[in-house]
Amino acid sequence: MRAAISGVVARQIWDSRGRPTVEAEIHLQNGVWGRGIAPCGASRGRFEAIDLRDGGGKFGGFGVTRALGNVRGPISVALEGMDGRDPVAVDRRLEELDGTPQFGRLGGNAAVAVSLAAWQVAAAYEGIALWRYLAQGRAVRLPLPEIQIFGGGAHAGRRIDIQDLMVMVPGAGSVRAALETTAEIYRAAGRLMEDAGKLAGTADEGGWWPLFGSNEEALEMLVRAIEMAGFRPGEEVFISLDIAASEFFDGKHYRLTLEDRDLDSGEMEALIEGWARRFPILSIEDPLAEEEMAPMVRLSQRLCSRAQIVGDDFLVSDAARVEKAVQAGALSAALIKINQAGTLSRAKRALDVAKAADWATIVSARSGETEDIAITDLAVGWDAGQLKVGSFARGERMAKWNALLRLEEEMGDAACFAGWSAFPKSFGKPQ
Ligand code: PGA
Ligand code: ZN
Repeated sequence: MRAAISGVVARQIWDSRGRPTVEAEIHLQNGVWGRGIAPCGASRGRFEAIDLRDGGGKFGGFGVTRALGNVRGPISVALEGMDGRDPVAVDRRLEELDGTPQFGRLGGNAAVAVSLAAWQVAAAYEGIALWRYLAQGRAVRLPLPEIQIFGGGAHAGRRIDIQDLMVMVPGAGSVRAALETTAEIYRAAGRLMEDAGKLAGTADEGGWWPLFGSNEEALEMLVRAIEMAGFRPGEEVFISLDIAASEFFDGKHYRLTLEDRDLDSGEMEALIEGWARRFPILSIEDPLAEEEMAPMVRLSQRLCSRAQIVGDDFLVSDAARVEKAVQAGALSAALIKINQAGTLSRAKRALDVAKAADWATIVSARSGETEDIAITDLAVGWDAGQLKVGSFARGERMAKWNALLRLEEEMGDAACFAGWSAFPKSFGKPQ
């Protein structure tokens, strides 16, 4: 059979932090092939797919020899001869072969590289782009970008507690216009940092290194950068935050290192709510830790009409966890990272549950990335509505934004920018 899988290749390549990662290729009888690369997070959820590393001294313990061995050994044996036009069956085979909820045996990094390669090869067999293969003829929107201006948390040596300070331009009308606005804000923020004697390079995802005295100073600086670039905060440009609160929660308290304060759940809720009322914030990710369901429900109910409340570590791209949050009334948006799930099919199931609940969905990169631009295809092909890939600098980030630009151009008059439609139904557009 011409479409049969004839070989699975694995190789070690390097990610944007200079750490090893897994690249996989699936080759078919007829010579068509597809490639996938595993990204890697630094602020990981407790329940996400296991990132299988060698440990030991070499490469700081980040070696992927064992993960590569799993692709070359059991995965390759299981996949050879399968129909390369059926990536759903490949994903199912990977899930069965591993047999654990978090890919504890094969490694989520091995699984996701192979899964992505399977979807790419299926699209290549049809001779079409991955996004088109995923869309299957349905109408899709170009995603609203969520772009980091200041990095923080685990991506900046915990210099500030908030992990991402980002901007969104929902009224931009196109990806091109949204990126042009963001470019001006990113530049203005750099100038402001320089003028304040606080310019110290960039963090892991390309956002400015956060040399601030408090978390609020970062928020204030972002508002000033938006104004300095010539835009109206809260009318044209809005703020999006990723608090990544699990990172500084010890089971009882949220430890704000920068401000030398310990907050209980109630105080943390009040802090976030205060920021949401004082600053033009449209989106807040992981405002509370992954085990804090009751406080998350309360905060979501209070803020849902003015901002989307996004679950990342809280949901780990898992359909059952999304369903649980929907039932409880927590959150209103799901961040979807394919390597949290381990297979594209599993990630898509989480996205589908979120959409069925009228939530927003955001396809997201990780802080450790590569030149692979597949997630732009996923954001478009799955009609996610939003895309988050880090800042407006560094090749591994810009490759994704540039891919989105090319797609917009290719779509021509048929291009539809998600803009305000990207937000959850519960959400009232600010007047
Ligand atoms: P990570 O962070 O890729 O380092 O886990 C990204 C995020 O929290 O959104
Ligand atoms: Zn996050």
